[in-house]
Amino acid sequence: MLAWYDRHRRELPWRAAPGARPDPYRVWLSEIMLQQTTVVTVAPYFDRFVARWPDVSALAAATLDAVLHQWQGLGYYARARNLHACARAVVERHNGRFPDSAVALRALPGIGDYTAAAIAAIAFDRAEAAVDGNVERVMARVFAVRESLPAAKLRLRALTRELVPAARPGDFAQALMDLGATICTPRRPRCALCPWRDACAARAAGVAEELPAAAEKPERPLRRGIVFWLSRDDGAVLLRRRPESGLLGGMIELPSTPWREAEWSEDEALGHAPAATDWTHLAGTVRHGFTHFPLELAIWAGSMAVPPDLCWAIWAQPDQFKDFAFPTLTKKVAEHALSVLARPPTRH
Ligand code: ADE
Repeated sequence: MLAWYDRHRRELPWRAAPGARPDPYRVWLSEIMLQQTTVVTVAPYFDRFVARWPDVSALAAATLDAVLHQWQGLGYYARARNLHACARAVVERHNGRFPDSAVALRALPGIGDYTAAAIAAIAFDRAEAAVDGNVERVMARVFAVRESLPAAKLRLRALTRELVPAARPGDFAQALMDLGATICTPRRPRCALCPWRDACAARAAGVAEELPAAAEKPERPLRRGIVFWLSRDDGAVLLRRRPESGLLGGMIELPSTPWREAEWSEDEALGHAPAATDWTHLAGTVRHGFTHFPLELAIWAGSMAVPPDLCWAIWAQPDQFKDFAFPTLTKKVAEHALSVLARPPTRH
C-alpha cells in the first residue's frame, strides 16, 4: 500500500513534500475543511485561508466574522465557528502548538474521532486509524463486510486498526484516502489498478460495487418558507443575522418565515413579515438541499420609504452583499430576487 502511495500519491495543497515534516496547522485546517466536502472544492479555500492566516496564532487573532466570511460557500458553518474556537483554544491551552495525541486533539472544538485520528497520524505519525466514509468503503470491500452502515461502523474501525502499520502511519492514512477517492470509488471501482486487488474479498466474490450495504434512508420531507425582500427608497435591502447556535449559525440572511413542511397561508406568513406593506409574490421559487431536508423558498418583495425601526435590522445595498457572510442559500435567493425584479413588469 505504501509503495502504491509513493507512486500515486496526489499532490494536494496541504500535503507536505515526501519526507518533509507536515505542519499540524495545515493538516488540521485541511481536515476540518474536508469534512463532508470534496478535495476540489476545498483546495482554493485552503489556499486563501493559509495566505491570509499562515499559522494558528494568526487565525486565533482574527474575528469570527472574518473567518465566517472567508468560509462563505463551503457550507456546514458550524465548522467555521469551531475552527475559530479551536484556534483560540490551541493558543490559550497549548501555547499555540497543536497537541500531538489523538486523545488531546479530540478535546478541542470541532475535532471528532475521525479528525483527531487523521491529524495525529498525518501530522504526528501516530499509529491511529482515521476512518471516514471512504475508508469504511475500502474496508467493507477488502473484508467483504456485508453488514450495512451505520451498524457496521465499529467493526470497520476495528478492521482498519489492525492494518495501521507502525512505520509511516500518516502516509498509510492518506494512502487509504487516496485509494478510496481514486480507485475504490463508490461506483465502478477500478479494481484492476488496486494494490489490494489480490487480497480483496469483495472482488473475489464479485460484489465490490455492492458494498458497503447502506441501511434504508429515512424520508426527508420538503420544508417550505417565505422570504421577505424589503427594500428602502435608497435601494438598501433588509437583512438579519441568524442565531449563533443551530443551522447556519451566525450567518447573515434575508428575513423569512420559519421553515416547515406545511404550506404557508397568506395570513400566517404575514404574521412573520418584518413590516406591514404591500407584498408582491415574485415568480418562481428557490430550492436548496440541506443534509437533513430539502427546502423550497418563495419570495415576497415590498418597499417602504420609511421602514420601521427594527433593532436587529441590517440594511445593505445589493452591490454590498458580497461583503457579508451569506450562506449559499441566501446567495441563491438574492440572485433570484434580483433577476426577477430586474425584468420589466408584465402587463395584464
Ligand atoms: N479527505 C479527508 N482528509 C483528506 C486528506 N488529507 N487528503 C485527501 N483527502 C482527504
